[in-house]
Amino acid sequence: MKIVVLSGAGISAESGLKTFRDSNGLWEGHDVMEVASPQGFSNNPNLVLDFYNKRRKQLLEVEPNTAHKALVELESGHEVVIITQNVDDLHERAGSSKVIHLHGELLKVRSTFDEDLVMDWRTDLNMGDFCEHNHQLRPHIVWFGEAVPLMETAIDEIATADCVIIVGTSMQVYPAAGLIEYAPEHASVYFVDPYPSIRSSERITVLAEKATIGIPKVVEWISNK
Ligand code: APR
Repeated sequence: MKIVVLSGAGISAESGLKTFRDSNGLWEGHDVMEVASPQGFSNNPNLVLDFYNKRRKQLLEVEPNTAHKALVELESGHEVVIITQNVDDLHERAGSSKVIHLHGELLKVRSTFDEDLVMDWRTDLNMGDFCEHNHQLRPHIVWFGEAVPLMETAIDEIATADCVIIVGTSMQVYPAAGLIEYAPEHASVYFVDPYPSIRSSERITVLAEKATIGIPKVVEWISNK
């Protein structure tokens, strides 16, 4: 069976990383457009770099949780593809082997001159940190208003799923939220979120629970099927 997981910030909440839509549209005290848009970067690059420097440092101090780990168990016996909106690497650190980062990766940076020039980066990124062509480096993050280059790949994966698990996302940010529309009719869908944005139906099983409780349950159901 092919299982596609669509994860959002909620799966990493219990590892200690904050979700986005829980503080009146502010993100660590900032308007999202100020710190997560191309305009924000050109208006105040130091503020943006500092924001991501703090998040990068925090990421290196946290660990994957039971939910990330339970998803790895599905790989013995099934093809599993994780499509995540998260920029953290907690799925990889838990051991998941195929992870598609729709919104980029916090532990990578790229050239502002050539978007294909991407490199690993685990320390602070500052103004004056240049690529080999002498252009400023920026976080490898998809900001609001930017294209989502891996969207086509994600659509192809979900369109061939037999089972879809959605976890920890408010399903508010498009195009990611629209991915579920591409799941085939026959696919069973599980939705795990303590404040689920959709209701149970014939096709969708909703577990109004935290990821570390709900995901191990779903994994057990699937494994015993
Ligand atoms: N377990 C599971 N879900 C949880 C938990 C938990 N312990 N705690 C909170 N949640 C749920 C919330 O109920 C909410 O539905 O996680 C969801 C988080 O929603 P958002 O903060 O909107 O995160 P997400 O959907 O991933 O945001 C999408 O928006 O800001 C951009 O690019 C950013 O990738 C991000 C995108």
